[in-house]
Amino acid sequence: MNADPLSAAVPFYDLLHEDGHVPLVRRLLPPLLAGVRHGVLEIGAGTGLITEVIARSAPGEIYALEPSLGMRSVLLSRLAVDPETRRRVTVLPCGALDAEVDDPVEAVVMISVLQSFPAAERPALWRVLARQLRPGGRLVFNWRDRATPVTGGLEPVGSYDVGRHTYEIAAQVLEVAGESVTTRFVYRVRRREVVISEDEMVTTNHWPPTAALASELKENGFTWSQAPEGMQVWHLPGPRPGA
Ligand SMILES: C[S@@+](CC[C@H](N)C(=O)[O-])C[C@H]1O[C@@H](n2cnc3c(N)ncnc32)[C@H](O)[C@@H]1O
Repeated sequence: MNADPLSAAVPFYDLLHEDGHVPLVRRLLPPLLAGVRHGVLEIGAGTGLITEVIARSAPGEIYALEPSLGMRSVLLSRLAVDPETRRRVTVLPCGALDAEVDDPVEAVVMISVLQSFPAAERPALWRVLARQLRPGGRLVFNWRDRATPVTGGLEPVGSYDVGRHTYEIAAQVLEVAGESVTTRFVYRVRRREVVISEDEMVTTNHWPPTAALASELKENGFTWSQAPEGMQVWHLPGPRPGA
C-alpha cells in the first residue's frame, strides 16, 4: 500500500527544483490567486514548495493532495514547523482522480503535475477538478509547448553539494511515442569520486500541445483567461471571486 514510485527522487527534489520551475512559479502564481478567499485545492503538492506560495497568497483553507508517501512526508515536515499554515492545510493522501474536498474551492492549482496524466485519463481529470470548484472558480497550472525530445544516453541534469557529499541527477530519454516520453532518472550521492548511493526511476510523462489541452478544457466547460507566459488560467462559468 505504501509502495512509492518516487522514493528515489524525494531526497533530491528540493535541490533540483529550487533550481528549476519553483522560483518562476513563486513570482507568477501569487497574482493569479488574487481575490481567492474561500479555499484552494493543490493537485500534486509534492514536498510543499508551492503549498507555501499558495499559503502566502490566499488566506483561506488549502487542500494539498499528494499521492506519494515520500513527497507527502516532506510536505508534512514543512507544515510541522509552521503552525499558522498547518492549521489551514489539509493533506489529502490520494491521486487527483480521487479528489473530493469537503467544501468546493475557489481555485485549483496544479504545478508541474499535468504531464503525469496520459491522454486517456485527462477527461476524467478535468471532470473531477471541475466538480471541486465553486461556480466562477479558476484552474491554474503551468504549461509550455516543448520540442519533441530524442532518445539518447544518460545526461547530467543537476549537481548539488550538501556538506562533504555531492548529490547528482542524470536523465536518459528511453522512448518517445507521440506525446508520451519515457525517461530513466539516476540519483547518485558521491563522496569525492566514490558513489556511496545510487537509485534509479523510470517514468513516463505526457506532453500534449497547448492547443490540444485547450480543446479538452473547453469541452469540459472551462473558459480561457489571460495569464503570463508559461501559466494557464481557466474559469468555470459563474461569478468570479475578486471580479
Ligand atoms: C514534479 S512534482 C511537482 C510537485 C509540486 N507541485 C511542485 O511544483 O513542487 C509532481 C507531483 O505530482 C504528483 N502526482 C503524480 N501523479 C499524480 C496524480 N495522479 N494525482 C496527483 N498527483 C500526482 C507526484 O506525486 C509529484 O509529487
